[in-house]
Amino acid sequence: MKSMKTLFLVTLLIMALTVTPSSASSSENEEPNSSLQGTSHFLNRKQYRISLTCDKYPKICHTKGSAGPDCCNNKCVNFTIDMFNCGRCGKKCSFPKICCEGKCVNPRSNKKHCGKCGNKCESRGSCVYGMCSYA
Ligand SMILES: *[C@@H]1O[C@H](CO)[C@@H](O)[C@H](O)[C@H]1NC(C)=O
Ligand SMILES: *[C@@H]1O[C@H](CO)[C@@H](O)[C@H](O)[C@H]1NC(C)=O
Repeated sequence: MKSMKTLFLVTLLIMALTVTPSSASSSENEEPNSSLQGTSHFLNRKQYRISLTCDKYPKICHTKGSAGPDCCNNKCVNFTIDMFNCGRCGKKCSFPKICCEGKCVNPRSNKKHCGKCGNKCESRGSCVYGMCSYA
């Protein structure tokens, strides 16, 4: 009986170590529908920790390792560069556009984001196929 309990605690410890703050705050937003629910007080507390999602706790998106400061569908994102949440939740940039400074732009022709975000062509130039041209 005592060894069973030890095994249980070791398992919990491994689970606790596996849950890093970044995975808890960004990618892992699926709630595990756990059959272990209610088996122990400690486990419940751990599940509570997993369910610290940004919908309820927006501050977790400001922690180190977060994908960004903004929260969409319980996921931390960066509105500035997120292709699927560009400027706001659910605003998707469709190909060939990319998200720069919270706006969908075409890097093939955009003079401010020529080829990539922030690559600005001089005013006399133009952006041709993602390259600044001064011809
Ligand atoms: C998840 O849990 C709820 C409530 O206990 C239950 O109604 C539901 O069927 C479960 N879903 C899955 C996928 O196990
Ligand atoms: C969001 O993305 C921009 C552009 O890469 C970056 O400068 C900024 O630091 C990011 N913000 C956070 C909180 O990660």
